[in-house]
Amino acid sequence: MGKTYNIAVIAGDGTGPEVVAEGKKVLLAAADKFGFTINFEEFDYGGDRYLRTGEVLPDSAAEEMKQFDSIFLGAIGHPDVKPGILEKGILLRLRFELDQYINLRPVKLYPGVPTPLKDKGPEHIDYVVVRENTGGLYTGIGGFSMKGTSDEVAVQSMVYNRKQVERCLKYAFEYTRKRNKRKTLALCGKTNVLTYVYDLWERAFHEIGEQKYKDIKREYFHVDATCMWMVKNPEWFDVIVTGNMFGDIITDLGAITQGGMGIAAGGNINPEGVSMFEPIGGSAPKYTGKNIINPLASIACGGMMLDHLGEEKAALAIENAIVDVTANKLKDMGAGRMGYSTTEVGDLVAERI
Ligand code: IPM
Ligand code: MN
Repeated sequence: MGKTYNIAVIAGDGTGPEVVAEGKKVLLAAADKFGFTINFEEFDYGGDRYLRTGEVLPDSAAEEMKQFDSIFLGAIGHPDVKPGILEKGILLRLRFELDQYINLRPVKLYPGVPTPLKDKGPEHIDYVVVRENTGGLYTGIGGFSMKGTSDEVAVQSMVYNRKQVERCLKYAFEYTRKRNKRKTLALCGKTNVLTYVYDLWERAFHEIGEQKYKDIKREYFHVDATCMWMVKNPEWFDVIVTGNMFGDIITDLGAITQGGMGIAAGGNINPEGVSMFEPIGGSAPKYTGKNIINPLASIACGGMMLDHLGEEKAALAIENAIVDVTANKLKDMGAGRMGYSTTEVGDLVAERI
């Protein structure tokens, strides 16, 4: 008999619930086909709950999430809530408290999907960004002095310790080995200016690579140059590893080259704990309830989640079904331009599993 997976669902705000519904539809189709069981339990964390109760996230949330095999998240962000409150209070808090120290973001152009990169196709755009997910500028270390005066000072520190850097690099090397494509890991940094933080990253990168991963080719790019090559020669990349802030920025660039927010999926991974899968895009409030938002990112997140849980065949089936739909059905990736509704796209993928 197949396994049973208990999944916590945080559908969230805006179009989050609509895309999550399609993600779940496809996950259940995969479970049915490959003989395992998925139980979903819904959590109402998000903007509406905050506006209703004044509480962003219960203090018990992370502990409660640890009882699950994974978390499946839609989108967080509400037009009536000041930017930062929900993002920091839900998304970043869960990433930190669950120690999801990797943000895994594949940049993969599926056939049929338009890319803004001239003369580039699916054979050129297929790499993965391993973004460190709990450190750097995101730790919130810093503050103001003399706030509100003309002498005001604001500090926000990029903080990394060796252990954080090492565990992220190890994950990236292992991932590159397992991916088994070009066996090339590129460190994206800024060693010419951030001469402390990225010096630490660069030394650790070469030391670990030399000691344990001689089969993996190592490359280094500054972050600004990384952006340039992601546009001009994306085929150079296999796996890119980088710190939190650079990873945030370059994965939006990556997402747009793979067809935009409708398709880009990601996973907040704790290799030893509970991981959380979420589309890179936001809650797109203006499309809420219209049944026109593209659910493929959420569906792809479901595939990543199954892969992480060890259901590799089912994950591959989801990926192949997505490819068949993008190559043969959808006109466009944007909300309202796909030629199908949100629920129809979910049906199209589910029936191909
Ligand atoms: C992302 C988002 C978040 C981040 C925000 C919403 C806090 O941009 O997941 O990339 O910066 O990590
Ligand atoms: Mn981002």
